[in-house]
Amino acid sequence: MKPMGLPLSDEVIMGSRKLLQSVCILCFLLGSCFVYQSLYADSRVNANPTVTLQVDASDSTGRSIPETLFGIFFEEINHAGAGGLWAELVNNRGFEAGGQNTPSNIWPWSIIGDQSSIYIATDRSSCFERNKIALRMEVLCDSKEGGGNGCPSGGVGVYNPGFWGMNIEDGKKYKVALYVRSTGDIDISVSFTSSNGSLILASEKIIASASDVSNWTKKEVVLEAKGTDHGARLQLTTTKKGLIWFDQVSAMPVDTYKGHGFRSDLAQMLADLKPRFIRFPGGCFVEGEWLRNAFRWKETVGAWEERPGHFGDVWMYWTDDGLGNFEFFQLAEDIGAAPIWVFNNGISHQDQVETPSVMPFVQEALDGIEFARGDPNSTWGSVRAAMGHPKPFELKYVAVGNEDCGKKNYRGNYLKFYEAIKKAYPDIKIISNCDGSSQPLDHPADYYDFHVYTSANNLFSMYNKFDHTSRKGPKAFVSEYAVTGKDAGTGSLLAALAEAAFLIGLEKNSDVVEMASYAPLFVNTNDRRWNPDAIVFDSSRMYGTPSYWVQRFFTESSGATLLGSKLDGNSSSSLVASAVSWQDSDGKDYIRIKVVNFGSSAVNLRVSVTGLSPEIARLSGLKKTVITSNNVMDENSFSQPNKVVPSESLLEIAEEDTSIVLPPHSFSSFDLLKESAEIRMAISDSSKTTSAM
Ligand code: AHR
Repeated sequence: MKPMGLPLSDEVIMGSRKLLQSVCILCFLLGSCFVYQSLYADSRVNANPTVTLQVDASDSTGRSIPETLFGIFFEEINHAGAGGLWAELVNNRGFEAGGQNTPSNIWPWSIIGDQSSIYIATDRSSCFERNKIALRMEVLCDSKEGGGNGCPSGGVGVYNPGFWGMNIEDGKKYKVALYVRSTGDIDISVSFTSSNGSLILASEKIIASASDVSNWTKKEVVLEAKGTDHGARLQLTTTKKGLIWFDQVSAMPVDTYKGHGFRSDLAQMLADLKPRFIRFPGGCFVEGEWLRNAFRWKETVGAWEERPGHFGDVWMYWTDDGLGNFEFFQLAEDIGAAPIWVFNNGISHQDQVETPSVMPFVQEALDGIEFARGDPNSTWGSVRAAMGHPKPFELKYVAVGNEDCGKKNYRGNYLKFYEAIKKAYPDIKIISNCDGSSQPLDHPADYYDFHVYTSANNLFSMYNKFDHTSRKGPKAFVSEYAVTGKDAGTGSLLAALAEAAFLIGLEKNSDVVEMASYAPLFVNTNDRRWNPDAIVFDSSRMYGTPSYWVQRFFTESSGATLLGSKLDGNSSSSLVASAVSWQDSDGKDYIRIKVVNFGSSAVNLRVSVTGLSPEIARLSGLKKTVITSNNVMDENSFSQPNKVVPSESLLEIAEEDTSIVLPPHSFSSFDLLKESAEIRMAISDSSKTTSAM
């Protein structure tokens, strides 16, 4: 190995000496003022402090990072799912959002026509037992009658604006399904129109037949759009007098991620993170402000038409629960992430079930596990199988509640869940809400949940939070972390840099921290309940915040080998660094060095790699990725989605000792290829081929 040297190469130093000699002669000729200017210029070149990162690449000191380390946490917050990842375009498709007992509250459906032509109400005539509300539409006008009683030319009816407008795109296909019943043969136009209804983007006719008024009929049409509007609406209209009922009106794009109903662009953003796990479906969403409004999985499975939906009273919006428990497991499978299911433990923000009465909740959790991974012939496994997934999902982790440790009944309730689950499913790992990072837990658990939302400086300094955690006992699951408040705005570079430092600290402590996920994941920009978030979207657009992009730097870390690394130098207090060794799918070995420069000055980083095994002929520079910006408070936006994103360049070094400039307020990663003699030959062979072409 080369000894540690100065950051400048010998040639550069020799060159500088020659330059200095020339300067002296010139100085002699031109006077002392010129000397001053030359020295001043030289001191500017060398103004950056130098910090050394020593990386020990020897196999004996490396430690395996858990396969599960970096994942994601999905919560139904900010319309992340309803009106977001779940591609359903209709909002309140079953007309239940106003409540089972609030007649005629059909929000956000609106009426086309006036009181002389149409009368709208809701009643409890639906054919679906768990969601009895249906829309009753009495058409008073008729185009054939003409005169004073003729319908307007576009017909009368209702429209649904979706979630702040539907994204209907030219040439794309959409499947509309609805249930209908009527007293006569009535033709109904099913149309996508522009936001004010003036332009028809796609339309098909269905006939509601009078054959049996007590019979609900399912109708399905595929509409192909002949124009684009990101704020479109779905209309159901007619020009024929009569009585019609509608229920469970759904409109989905035909193209969804892996055909499973997820909005493709948003799901791809998740898949690109290569998440090793997905925690779902919340957060506070699981708890509810009141237990009666908590997420209860049994209400969210089975045929979509039969799901009652529910009002999430923490984040204050209605969900039809199209994105139900089955869909979460499907999503996990589709993006290659291990499912981590959080269930309610009989505790909400405002009310709690006493431990002696908690067994129905325990049974609900056991049934939920059977639903996910039970035999297709089992009671709940058969429900999953009927939904199209006879093969069990690979559920290995469950969390008993969310942020409930301090609540009166938590420990009592938790133990009931723990005992019952371990008895029925000894291999399932159980996550407690109580923090075991500073002192041992007073109850059995496989993991403890750790959440942190704080300022940038605090989170930066928490990179060593787990350095002194006991190496015995349950492992940490950092299931929610983020910089919040004024440092974060709606997603600043500053927040992302502090998070990067924190994640490097988790990487280094991954003997006690086995999983980590940022929170929250998504925000529909029309319903910002929580700032900041990783991915911002509206009906048609989306972008990642700097915090999202920081997570992309860690995609190769799960399952990699952590190498020993140490920073030395004056500015090292504003730097945090790690080095991992990882392998790509072709079996090539790399060292990835990641460094956060949290300070406002550039730093020369001198990297020295020692301990490479003898069969490695050399390390070659491959890729440098940097995220930074002119102002540390810079954010991305719909108008500038790429203002603060990683930029990649070739890393032009070919030595084990090298010097790299870290810009102020930046996060950089450097990939070095471990070249064996054979790889070098292959590279030079391929370069011959390339140059011959
Ligand atoms: O991530 C947002 C919320 O923060 C989660 O719902 C909750 O667990 C935490 O308080």
